[in-house]
Order: sequence, then structure tokens, then C-alpha cells
Amino acid sequence: MFADRVLSGMRPTGSLHLGHYHGVLKNWVEMQQEFECLFFVADWHALTTHYDTPQVIEQNVWDMVIDWLAAGVDPARATLFIQSRVPEHAELHLLLSMITPLGWLERMPTYKDQQEKLSGKDLSTYGFLGYPLLQSADILIYRATQVPVGEDQVPHIEFTREIARRFNHIYGREIGFEEKAEAAIKKLGSKKAKLYAELRTRYQEQGDDEALESAKSLLDEQQSLSLGDRERLFGYLEGGGKMILSEPQAMLTKASRMPGLDGQKMSKSYGNTISLREDEESVGKKIRTMPTDPARIRRTDAGDPARCPVWQLHEVYSGEDTQQWVQHGCKTAGIGCIECKQPVIAAVLEEQKPMRERAQQYLDDPTLVRNIIADGCEKAGKLASETMRDVREAMGLSYS
Ligand code: TRP
Ligand code: SF4
Repeated sequence: MFADRVLSGMRPTGSLHLGHYHGVLKNWVEMQQEFECLFFVADWHALTTHYDTPQVIEQNVWDMVIDWLAAGVDPARATLFIQSRVPEHAELHLLLSMITPLGWLERMPTYKDQQEKLSGKDLSTYGFLGYPLLQSADILIYRATQVPVGEDQVPHIEFTREIARRFNHIYGREIGFEEKAEAAIKKLGSKKAKLYAELRTRYQEQGDDEALESAKSLLDEQQSLSLGDRERLFGYLEGGGKMILSEPQAMLTKASRMPGLDGQKMSKSYGNTISLREDEESVGKKIRTMPTDPARIRRTDAGDPARCPVWQLHEVYSGEDTQQWVQHGCKTAGIGCIECKQPVIAAVLEEQKPMRERAQQYLDDPTLVRNIIADGCEKAGKLASETMRDVREAMGLSYS
């Protein structure tokens, strides 16, 4: 129950490009080897900004899942699902909204930022204000421990931690909690009980995070504890009550700034992208027509890779030898720009080849994708309903 579980979501608002691959998907593919992973299509989040263009969302959901699979996300390792097909997310969002101070949402940096950025759209809606809380529900409902996100999303994870803490604080107190926790400590056996108590004191009196971690791993190792006692002892460590919702960690995706065709960061809004499964001819054409060092007008002019967007792609795609060949050839006018671009074209095509191949079977037989998602939704639904049982009970909704 306390083992690592990774969860992340993506909004289906446009087709994926190589920036998504280098920035996000490669990371997902790595993580699925190591952790239990859940990846989902955040279609409700997409609606908070695209409420007036539902067809955009509809179009992109399946394409995006195919892009994930093409990139190597493996449905045998990771659970893939669609947010709106696990309606428990909405229930948790609603229940959490009862204890969410409005100010916390209004103060989210992303709230004002996005409103300004998308100023053509009226985003003074209830749904958009609640965007981070819906994200919290996504995370907390799976008791995810790790959430891989970009820098911009860190405040949302921080907010999620605060919501979890507040929830546990308000609802985690059961009658006689302390007595029950003390009794649970005794069940650890005298040596471990003493160690637990010491670590807890060290954490609570001196804020010693290492002590907290040691105590947590001590609990992780106790196979014989009942689930209730386990939760109590985890909760007791940090002072509050029972830990019903667990606080996730942001897992910062290392800032990979994938350059686009013009040297700016690759992004749909700059129109400088190569899509994940773009056809070969178009990839060649886009790279061949990329701008180069503006000072290099004639073939005989020497250039400087530092001023050339093509060089940035060499930095992503080329090995040491090729990079030296570019540096030398460019600065001495020994190579032409078309020549210089060839290895980049070849490397991009090479990278995309397995993606195109993997995608093909899903394009040929769309029921494969439907089935993967149906399976994933079922698995996710099971996990979600376990948490919801605890949440409903804690909030006094388990009438009989
Ligand atoms: N807000 C995230 C983004 O724009 C998408 C998202 C929704 C998400 N729910 C999530 C990411 C839960 C991680 C976990 O990128
Ligand atoms: Fe850019 Fe290569 Fe041309 Fe130099 S030779 S300007 S690095 S494309």
C-alpha cells in the first residue's frame, strides 16, 4: 500500500510532437520499468479550457493514446485509462471541494497565468478555478507517491499535498486515536517499538526528516501489522490522525528543452514542431527548409553553429564525431548546410521508425486501443473505489 506508485496525466488538446517525446514520454517509458505506473488522458481537464470545442478533445483522445503506445508506453507494464471513464475522480473532486479554501485556488500562480495567456477565452469559470483540485483528486484517489510533471505543475502538487494534509487533519481523527496508536506500537515488539518511539520523537521535536524516513521504512517492513494499525502508525508519526490520503511527491522531469525547427522551444503555439509520427517526406522537408546561421548567405561563407537552430538539433541527436564535423565544417565553410542537415534528418527518422511501426498495428485495428483502455479503466476503477470507500466513510457517508 505504501510502495511507490507513479501517476501522470496529459490533456488531449492537440497532437503530440517530438517535444512531448523528449520531455515526457521517454520518461514515462523509463519509469514503467521500475515502478507501478498509471497514465491517463485528462479529458475533463481539457474541457476546463476547451469547453467550447469538444470536438478537439474527442479527436485527440485516441490519437494521443496511440502516440503513447508508439513511444513505447507498454500496456502490459502501465495502466492506461481515461479520466472521465473513472467517474470516482469527479466524486472525490466534489468531496474535496467541501474542505478547499477558495483562497488556495485563487492564489494558484497557474490560475492568473493561464487566464492571461488564453485571454481570448472566458476562463472565469467554476471549472477552471477548480482545475488544481481536480488534479488533486486524480492523484489522491490512487494514493500516488510520485507524480512526474514539468516545472509549471509543481504548485499543483504542493497544493495536492496541502489538501491531503487538511483532509487527514479533519477526517483522520478517530475516537481514541492516541490510545489505539500506542497499542499498535506495542504490537511491534519491544525493540522495534522503542525504535519507532525514538524516531517519532526525533522527527516531531527536531524535524529530523531522516528519522521520519527511517520510521516509515521500519513500518514498511512490518508484515504482520493490520492495515488499520499500519495507517495509524504512519499517521501518528506526523502528528495528525490516521492517514487516509497520502501526500504525493512531484517528480521533476529533468528540464529537457527540445528545440523546435526555428531554435525556439518546440511548441504547438510556435508552429515549429515535428509530430511524433510525422511522415518521412515531411520530416525531410521541414528540416531541409529550416533556417540556419543568418550570416551564412553563400555556401562559401563560414558560419557559426552557435547561431544556428540546426546545431541545437545536433546537440540532441548527434554523437561527438558528428558534432565535431559540424563545428569544424561550418566554421571553415567546409560543409554546406544541406549536407549538415542530413545526419539530423537521418537521426530523427531513425528515432521515429519504431514509433511508426508500433503505431501501425493500432491504426490497422482500433479495437486494440479500445481494449487496452477498457482494461486500464477497469483496473483504475478498482483502485479508485478502494480509496473512495475510505473517503466516504471518513466523511460520514457510509450510511447503512
Ligand atoms: N495539469 C496537468 C498538465 O497540464 C495534467 C494533469 C491532470 C495531471 N491531472 C494530472 C498531471 C494528475 C499529473 C497528475 O500537464
Ligand atoms: Fe547551421 Fe550546419 Fe549550416 Fe553551420 S553548416 S549554419 S551549423 S546548418
